[in-house]
Amino acid sequence: MSRVIVSSANSFSLRVSEIAPDKSISHRSVMFAMLASGTSEISNFLRAEDTLNSLNIVKNLGAVIEDDGTIIKISSNGLKESSEILDCGNSGTGMRLFCGLLSSADGHFVLTGDEYLRRRPMKRVTLPLRDIGAKLDGRDGGELAPLSIRGASLKAFNYESKIASAQVKSAMILAALRADGVCTYVEPELSRDHTERMLMGMGANIKVDKLKTTITPMEGLLSPLIIKIPADPSSAFFFAVAASIVPNSNIVLEGITLNPTRIEAFKALERMGANITYEVVDNKYEPIGNISVKYAPLKAIVVDENISWLIDELPALSIAFACAQGESVVKNAQELRVKESDRISVVVAGLRACGIEVDEYEDGYKVVGGELKKGVVDSDGDHRIAMSFIIAGLKCGMEVNDLDCINTSFPNFFELLQKITKVELS
Ligand code: S3P
Repeated sequence: MSRVIVSSANSFSLRVSEIAPDKSISHRSVMFAMLASGTSEISNFLRAEDTLNSLNIVKNLGAVIEDDGTIIKISSNGLKESSEILDCGNSGTGMRLFCGLLSSADGHFVLTGDEYLRRRPMKRVTLPLRDIGAKLDGRDGGELAPLSIRGASLKAFNYESKIASAQVKSAMILAALRADGVCTYVEPELSRDHTERMLMGMGANIKVDKLKTTITPMEGLLSPLIIKIPADPSSAFFFAVAASIVPNSNIVLEGITLNPTRIEAFKALERMGANITYEVVDNKYEPIGNISVKYAPLKAIVVDENISWLIDELPALSIAFACAQGESVVKNAQELRVKESDRISVVVAGLRACGIEVDEYEDGYKVVGGELKKGVVDSDGDHRIAMSFIIAGLKCGMEVNDLDCINTSFPNFFELLQKITKVELS
């Protein structure tokens, strides 16, 4: 599957309960099960490439896994050295969190990934972990995978991170759980907090005070994780944008995590004028519920704060910018350049290919709302770019190339899209 031609859509009204399960929580669920005594039970696990790679890695690390296709049961007797190279595929979350988890494990481990992941910066985790005694290395002084890790004893730390990154925070929290004393981690802006919520739910002694997290190392093991993974707001957001740009449409997205660190993009869309409501129906580790989105004409906004809360959704939000009245601006978003692709330059190139006027900055871009035109866009191997421009096609038709990446996070994306428009895949 390397090319899709999407047709423009007529107004639609849908209720969707099949949005892909949350990727961040799925990765964490299988990793954290390795810290528990007894059997963890995970249902609605995301069966997509990124998270299946994490599941395979924990299997290589000695987890006993029973999977009946609905519930994955994981029991562990501690992390075991593996004779396999541990392949994280496309996933920065996988690689960075495994660095934290394995830094204190007994043995030698090698982490690698696909061509895109092997280009992404890893010093943000390898350097602070080395500072506390971890033995990690990689190309370019520990910046680039493949990475090698030899487990070591870790010293307690007080670390102040310059980047608001849940991946860095999570790697350091996982290291802290095995350090030789109480640790603190401070971040410049609150990043997504699934790690803290889930580990606290498993009985870890973690305290969060605004931007400061205090972690007391584990004594023994944690309680097993029993979790039904909610749907992923970052995946749901593509369909929220769809309903906001196709006149007279509406959609209800069910079973989504409503964790405040994850729904900022919906809030941004609301600021643009979309009609959005939230209904909490459950609360386990995080609030979970339904998001309803109704079409309304959109106006431009400036996005320059809480960037880490909408970092994964900015490509899709940019499609809404292109359909809005006025000039939308994204600033302080240099992190976008080191995601699965350089999302600033790829979004800018994609919008230009669709006839939209865009200015590029080092840390963001400006989009002048106008009329999207059918274009040909290449995803650059980035799932979120591919899905964003496919959604743009609902407005004007679109050809998007290089689509295998969609399997990293949202394998049933086209099945859902076909409820809205005609899709020709080749
Ligand atoms: C993630 C954190 C974010 C996000 C990524 C998933 C996570 O990355 O972009 O898709 O699960 O912790 P950063 O923490 O590097 O911003």
